[in-house]
Amino acid sequence: IKKIGVFTSGSDSPGMNAAIRAVVRTAKLYDLDVVGIRRGYEGMIQGEFTDMDRGSVSNIIQRGGTILKAGRSEEFKTSAGRKKAYEQLKSQQIDGLVALGGNGTFIGAKELGREYDMPIIGVPCTIDNDLLGTDFTVGYDTAINTAIEAIDKIRDTAESHDRLFIVEVMGADSGLIALRVGIAIGAEAMMIPGTRSDMPALFARLEMGRKDKASKIVVVAEGEEPGEAFEIGRIIKEKYPNYDTRISILGHIQRGGKPTCMDRVLASRLGVAAVEVLRNGHRNEMVGLIHNSIICTSFERSIKHNIDLNPDLLKVVEMLSL
Ligand code: F6P
Repeated sequence: IKKIGVFTSGSDSPGMNAAIRAVVRTAKLYDLDVVGIRRGYEGMIQGEFTDMDRGSVSNIIQRGGTILKAGRSEEFKTSAGRKKAYEQLKSQQIDGLVALGGNGTFIGAKELGREYDMPIIGVPCTIDNDLLGTDFTVGYDTAINTAIEAIDKIRDTAESHDRLFIVEVMGADSGLIALRVGIAIGAEAMMIPGTRSDMPALFARLEMGRKDKASKIVVVAEGEEPGEAFEIGRIIKEKYPNYDTRISILGHIQRGGKPTCMDRVLASRLGVAAVEVLRNGHRNEMVGLIHNSIICTSFERSIKHNIDLNPDLLKVVEMLSL
């Protein structure tokens, strides 16, 4: 491999810049040329390439978002779109790719790698933490800390006004953000996909709760339908007209901001590993960190929704939320 392309695709996540920096600097150490591809697969199709060197990634490790810009591409989902993208890569003599993103990014990478002779290594970057083959994805730690900071503030006002707050967090169809955030903010109840979190269970939980506690916070995972918190709030208001109930949807605040130390270190380690395994002949795999060791997992296996929620964490919720 002589020249690699690096790109960020799908949703941005805090720590992507640290990963770009690690990829570019590692590639330069190994005397590889590096091209940054802007706007993910869409930019690949349009030929939005820019040469990168050590200086192009100075002072970005601490910045949220992605200097290469991100986004989804409908055209890349078609074989004609992938053909255009491959031709653009070839016209630049790019002979390897590092893809930074989540499920959608790796579905695209898997297809491109299956149709063309283009080795690709993925770095898991998503706030959702919903990929197999890594304990944590880049951005998850920052997102949960952002959510905790926001909900701690909500707790202050909830306690002052004896209010019940329904707070919706991101995480697509996985409840991994909600689960950790719920434990960390001492939620009175949670609504998480894949657990027994139906309305009767929520009512039971609220009724079991301490009567002397002024505020109550219910953490809701956005699930398939963002905005679910409004419907839950409506039902709660109907059932408990005496609760002073408010709804808060944290939304995209969870995707921005400075990456935490955990995310910067994870992104740096995975960025280095991505270039090294690419040079060693790996292809169509994601690098991840499992029990503190670098592990490669095929795109095929890493792409998986509905990751099981850790039963130990669920037990902690049950035990401590009353
Ligand atoms: O995958 C990251 C994520 O923030 C999800 O948690 C959320 O469901 C989705 O992206 C939101 O996407 P968009 O920014 O396109 O609204």
